[in-house]
Amino acid sequence: MGRRAETGSTVKVLFEPYGLRAYANPNETILDAAIRVGVGIRSECGGTQICGKCKVQVRDQRGLTPATLKECKLLNEKIQSSFRLACSARFLQDADPITVVIPSESVVRKRQFSEIVSERKIKLEPAASKVRVEVTQPSISDRRSDSERLLAGIKRIHGHTKIELDYNVIAGLPETLRQSEAVTSVLWDKERVISVEAGDTRATMYGLAIDVGTSRITCSLLNLTNGVRVADRSVENPQIAYGEDILTRVTYSQAGGDNGKQLQRTIIAGINDLTEKVCKEADVDPYNVYEAVIVGNTVMHHLTLGIDTKYLARSPFTPAIRESMSIRGAEIGLSINPNAIAHFLPIIDAFVGADAVGDILYSNLHRRGAPALLLDIGTNTEVILRDREGLTCCSCASGPAFEGVHIEHGMKAVEGALESVTIRRGGFKVGYRVLGVTKPVGLCGSAIIDVIAELFKEGLIDRFGKFNSEVETPRLKKINGVKKFIIVNAGESGTGRDITVSERDINEVMLAKAAIYTGCSTLMRRRGVARGELSRILIAGGFGKNLNRQNVRLIGLIPDVPSSKISFIGNAAHAGAEATLKSRKALHLADRIAREVEYIELAASKEFSGEFAAALMLPHKNLELFDTLKNYINK
Ligand code: FES
Repeated sequence: MGRRAETGSTVKVLFEPYGLRAYANPNETILDAAIRVGVGIRSECGGTQICGKCKVQVRDQRGLTPATLKECKLLNEKIQSSFRLACSARFLQDADPITVVIPSESVVRKRQFSEIVSERKIKLEPAASKVRVEVTQPSISDRRSDSERLLAGIKRIHGHTKIELDYNVIAGLPETLRQSEAVTSVLWDKERVISVEAGDTRATMYGLAIDVGTSRITCSLLNLTNGVRVADRSVENPQIAYGEDILTRVTYSQAGGDNGKQLQRTIIAGINDLTEKVCKEADVDPYNVYEAVIVGNTVMHHLTLGIDTKYLARSPFTPAIRESMSIRGAEIGLSINPNAIAHFLPIIDAFVGADAVGDILYSNLHRRGAPALLLDIGTNTEVILRDREGLTCCSCASGPAFEGVHIEHGMKAVEGALESVTIRRGGFKVGYRVLGVTKPVGLCGSAIIDVIAELFKEGLIDRFGKFNSEVETPRLKKINGVKKFIIVNAGESGTGRDITVSERDINEVMLAKAAIYTGCSTLMRRRGVARGELSRILIAGGFGKNLNRQNVRLIGLIPDVPSSKISFIGNAAHAGAEATLKSRKALHLADRIAREVEYIELAASKEFSGEFAAALMLPHKNLELFDTLKNYINK
């Protein structure tokens, strides 16, 4: 029996290499205890024992629950070296002090590129604005009601007569008007008064643009008096704890009475946490945030609004609403001005949401004269085709491989990730670039694409992604019976272990790229757009600008067009949210765009399985479709 810990029945823990001493509660996971005391451990799946990224080393495990079968499977051979999954191992009551070592590969690292793209010039005319109004005080000779005197003041200065007052405004009016010494600031949208404040507060007016992604939430704070972004932040979507992909979350939301509400509370807590951080960074009182524009895929949209998601996952897959919605943020628990309005951009269909509308708005895809494709690559990839008639879209289940999930040494584009890789001389020479000034610890999406393309170019893998048994290089080794290509030797890596790729890793990426390519080819076939007619392919999403234009074509992720026609536009969905925050015209345009886009259900298309199977080869079964890459392919 172990010695009782000093504080009640808590367990003393030493987190190394930080030398941080803390107490854990019995039955608490190592991950939860670490988060509570501010120690960052990677948890791409939110602690659901899917990603295997939260590995920690605990030499003496007598104070922990035994490893589960699932854990053993994810840890593989590492279980022999005292590794555990931090999200699975729990502290036992009355355990002796425990030392938990967080290896370099499991440390949470900073994102290395701005997830929010630069602001596009747009005329500043937000949906709501503040005006200065002079309101006379009541007297024996002027016994008009407070609302009558306010409306008269607005009419005197701004000429409007048909204006409604919100209930909340009327409730606070008596006190506000009597504090204001004649000058009052009125927040209105030209039809409704949203808020009334004592004194001249026109200089303080802020808004939030929020992109609720399946994996990540990004948030920026804009000064709505000049349109300048004053702070931005992003975090993992805390809903990941309930499932890695949207369908798992929909299933969870349907599994019990309060589950849907629980998911809503989780996402709102995440948004409020980000709001607090951006406001603190810019020294802004959240009370002065009067508007928020929120985009996200349809499931995130419904869950954030607390709308039942059941019918999104059941044929014929219908959303509760397609049009944009403007509600008081307080109704869903947003911690900003209690009268602030939250605008939810419209959605296109059950599987293509408001994030795609944001993409279109920001990229101006709807205005292009010549055919163009836009891909927003994520766990679910939206593909939108602009042809001469209009816009068509579909959704591809590409999975999280490009975020590093399900790839043994995969990781997000954070400090320590390999961002690009070159392989030469039949695999004898490997070059790479790392994000940040540090040793490499893993591969982010752009590097995984590079590795597969380079292995293919050098003849080290065949068109099915299998290692070529005729090629010999010291970098191709069997490790625990599995053939792996060593990109970074243990001596050079920040983890002290080889950074490798296996056929299993390659297969994960092949599935993802085939799903995305099939989305592109199906839309083009349906609309009769030939590859040569594409004037541009716009790639949005978390890749940053690190993607190699030739390699994305060489693995067959996108149609084969000249490199000059490929543009990377970053988190365009978020930029679209910012555009609508700045301009009420863009807000109205969003509804028009969403109505005009035609949605195509890929799974219902009869060509789908054939197209997908053909796209599972490198770059594709039909090499005629990749003629600009012939030289490499023939080699
Ligand atoms: S956080 Fe532990 S497996 Fe993903």
